[in-house]
Amino acid sequence: MNTFITLRKENEREIPDKFKKYDFRMPEALIRYFFKIYTKNGDKVFDMFAGLGTTLIVAEEMNLIPFGIELREEFCDYIKTILINKNNIIHGDARNLNNYNLPKMDFCITSPPYMHKDDEEFALSSYTTKGTYNKYLQELREIYVKLKTILKPDCYIIIEVANLKRNEITTLAWDIGRAISKVFQFIGEVIIGWEKEESSKENGTYGYGYDHSYCLIFRNT
Ligand SMILES: C[S@@+](CC[C@H](N)C(=O)[O-])C[C@H]1O[C@@H](n2cnc3c(N)ncnc32)[C@H](O)[C@@H]1O
Repeated sequence: MNTFITLRKENEREIPDKFKKYDFRMPEALIRYFFKIYTKNGDKVFDMFAGLGTTLIVAEEMNLIPFGIELREEFCDYIKTILINKNNIIHGDARNLNNYNLPKMDFCITSPPYMHKDDEEFALSSYTTKGTYNKYLQELREIYVKLKTILKPDCYIIIEVANLKRNEITTLAWDIGRAISKVFQFIGEVIIGWEKEESSKENGTYGYGYDHSYCLIFRNT
């Protein structure tokens, strides 16, 4: 498999204006790329930070059965207006993923909510409570421990993530890689070079000061 690919940093699907300020979606092309490699028709695929539903919507387009969890109710309501499998998007908290009676999954791809090491707003509550970066890495790891119980053996798990430049760099991608390697076998990373029509020099084509992100690949061995 290639360890470096380039894709355009853009989404094909328009979203309602009221959600544009929350538009942290993975491009559809990225999700399609990994579904083609790691899934087959009828597989159950999971995104426990479903956001505006990109993973789930692309999954249905590719004859996969999507399941997802999303903390923000208004995002879930929006996703339901698009999905055929409307009941497969759960308004809930990934930290409680064992409470939702989910079936065994064949594949998981997600982009978690990001947190800088000096942030006080806690990413895993969608920034509605306070918490530290260490707590974030610990709770994220606990989510992946729970995820293990609903994954089929040998399936693949992908996390799309970047490091974050602010005053100092938060090595988010590497910290998450290290934390989740304690739960699943780390197979390697694919670096995604992002191309964009217009980009601010400061923020990069991806955002957060970078022109690239990482897809960290793990296996449920
Ligand atoms: C980076 S966005 C995901 C974007 C999504 N992958 C897409 O392409 O549309 C992260 C999402 O995780 C949600 N979130 C944050 N904490 C959560 C939690 N504890 N459980 C479930 N969802 C959570 C946020 O509300 C946000 O929508």
